[in-house]
Amino acid sequence: MKFFIDTANVEDIKKAYKIGVLSGVTTNPSLVAKEGVKFEDRIEEILKLVPEVESVSAEVTPNAITAEEMIAEANELIKINGGDKNITIKVPMNIAGLETCRYLTKKGVKTNVTLVFTVNQALLAARAGATYVSPFLGRLDDISEDGVLLVAKIAELFRIHNLDAQIIAASVRHPDHVTRVAMAGAHIATVPYSVIEQLTKHPLTDQGLEKFAADWVKAPQ
Ligand code: E4P
Repeated sequence: MKFFIDTANVEDIKKAYKIGVLSGVTTNPSLVAKEGVKFEDRIEEILKLVPEVESVSAEVTPNAITAEEMIAEANELIKINGGDKNITIKVPMNIAGLETCRYLTKKGVKTNVTLVFTVNQALLAARAGATYVSPFLGRLDDISEDGVLLVAKIAELFRIHNLDAQIIAASVRHPDHVTRVAMAGAHIATVPYSVIEQLTKHPLTDQGLEKFAADWVKAPQ
């Protein structure tokens, strides 16, 4: 399973990129709004920052309701950074989003169908040609449903029917989510930097380091 970072914050992206674990970046309107910068400018900045990743998701804005409106926005987004091949257009899971997905797929543009909460939605997205589908497990857990089980079912479905779309486990809240979606067959987990940091931690690692440091001062220098 690969890691994408789920943020529009450049400092967090830089930190994750530096440790070599990053295969992509996902953003959404809420994450971009938090940054207080112009959407297109931030996407361009991110694309320039992480040239070696496979994908940087930029979502059509909530102003785009119809497929025509989504396609018009997508056609502007794909010009960013001189038509960067990594740009991935994120579209919502609805009829207009699927139509936009199909249009972009035919054009050879990568797509990420977002806000997926059922197996049927994932199947439709994959059939519309989505490069990535994003089930939001944390938000399902928030309403007492099983987000990891959804990821497992989608992974099984894609296996049975030889569907090429990659599953991005999204709305990941903690390290246990990461372990469980990796075991469930997600291709990618998109996580905030705080979760990447938590993944490096274990109390015995800290204790081990403290012991090495304590022993080292006793060694002849
Ligand atoms: C994924 O692409 C989304 O940006 C994200 O994972 C949403 O997570 P949230 O439920 O924490 O907002």
